[in-house]
Amino acid sequence: MSVNLNQTNIDLDDPNFRSVFANLQGNILKGHGRDYARHVFFCLGSDEVANRQWIWQMSEKVTSMLEQGQQHQAFKLQGKHDHLFVNLMLSASGYRKLGILREQWPDDPAFLAGMKDLDQRYDTSPRGDHKPTANPLNDDLSQWESDFSQDLDGMLILALSGPLAEAEKALTDLVAEVAQSLDGIGHIAVVQHGHVMRNDKQQVIEHFGFVDGVSNPKFLFSELTEEYRNGGYSNNDPSAPLNLVMVPDPGGDHASFGTYVVYRKLQQNIKGFWQRADMLANTLSENADRKISAEYAGALCVGRFQDGTPISEQSGDGWTNLFNNFNFDDDAEGLKCPLHAHVRKTNPRGDTVRQFNSPPTIERSRRIVRRGISFGETERHPAQEWTEAGLLFLSFQASIVDQFIFMQHTWCNSEKFLHEDVGLDPLVGQLKATEVPKPQSWSKGWGSPTAEQVSFSFSGVVRMKGGEYFFMPSLHFLKNLPV
Ligand code: HEM
Repeated sequence: MSVNLNQTNIDLDDPNFRSVFANLQGNILKGHGRDYARHVFFCLGSDEVANRQWIWQMSEKVTSMLEQGQQHQAFKLQGKHDHLFVNLMLSASGYRKLGILREQWPDDPAFLAGMKDLDQRYDTSPRGDHKPTANPLNDDLSQWESDFSQDLDGMLILALSGPLAEAEKALTDLVAEVAQSLDGIGHIAVVQHGHVMRNDKQQVIEHFGFVDGVSNPKFLFSELTEEYRNGGYSNNDPSAPLNLVMVPDPGGDHASFGTYVVYRKLQQNIKGFWQRADMLANTLSENADRKISAEYAGALCVGRFQDGTPISEQSGDGWTNLFNNFNFDDDAEGLKCPLHAHVRKTNPRGDTVRQFNSPPTIERSRRIVRRGISFGETERHPAQEWTEAGLLFLSFQASIVDQFIFMQHTWCNSEKFLHEDVGLDPLVGQLKATEVPKPQSWSKGWGSPTAEQVSFSFSGVVRMKGGEYFFMPSLHFLKNLPV
């Protein structure tokens, strides 16, 4: 039976999807929910048969969507995620080293070129203007950690929950097992350690202290029901068709699907972010009748307060609901939520429809599925700038070019999105190393058309340290490699 990928609101128990979900890796349609992770980047050797045998052996550990669902049921009964969760993905160099037919390779041009190929040109213009762009992410390879500069053939995500010490020991042992199994075939290139951070309300946060993972496309009935309970979706439809993230796996059978993966290790300058937020707050407070706080200035950068409250909905914090039922219909000018705010650049919620008359379906098709996790020190107020702390950014999408690259290049990195004078996304927008960003414009009064606007440059608080593009294939492909 063929599968209609235009569907959304999927029931995990739907018998029509059973063979698809048994074959699809977990974490794609719903996050795995574990608190600790190891990202094990591996390099294969020159013996194609040995490489295939090793991948086949690893495939035994991979968690399918079906298993993830069953484990989730057990979690609801027992209250803990004690099962190991595993994903396996391959880069284009990894596919090459398997020695399989070319027609079994995924064909996204960014995947085939790899993240380090800065000369490859991508069509990153809206509305099919076809102006291919080289290095659309403005990456500077000299800033990358040397471990990421080699060919990384694939990556395993190993994830666990439970008491910290036990989970960490189990993950360390598992990485040692992987290293041993690779002996004589290839080697582990680098291992990244991820851990979920939480605030005092147990909400997941990132290093600047903002609640994260609030807004993500939702595919499953269970997740949509939860979103409905958390505020509804009269102003924002979080549902997404399967084809936002799933593509047929060219190496599998008719029920085999995979997804493209973007991995970026992003270091965060925590002290620098709050220093700049403080300076912005002081600038906004000059000659004003009230003192503006650094917390408010930070919310202007992100588009949400630290507790998740969208700044388009409320001018002060103190509202703890993780509210996602909002859009910018009555804030078209960006008087409440600046047009450059991170959540507005990465999900314009109708801005492109208003500004360019482009169909809402196009804007919605740019959405990505975020499954990143924090790394490094957990100190929320470090004494130094650029401590070893940041986000292991991980996104899933059906097209790297049309979704992630478009979002980062055409929205976050473009000073001219949504229009000429907007400026960079203060969190993740980056120009080429030789270019100096223009200051963004910030309003002294929330929602007031007459309030004074001040210029202030906010950027450079996140640094790209390395990454790669991958494809996460179906289990059918992994388990049927010729060995
Ligand atoms: C260290 C780097 C980053 C930090 C600290 C960060 C932080 C955040 C925070 C606090 C939110 C709001 C909470 C939420 O809606 O989940 C958010 C949302 C989001 N971020 Fe990031 N982010 C980072 C990198 C990126 C990158 C590189 C992209 C893609 C180019 C991205 C895309 C998004 C998207 C799509 C949303 C949801 C927007 C919405 O639907 O409202 N983020 N991020």
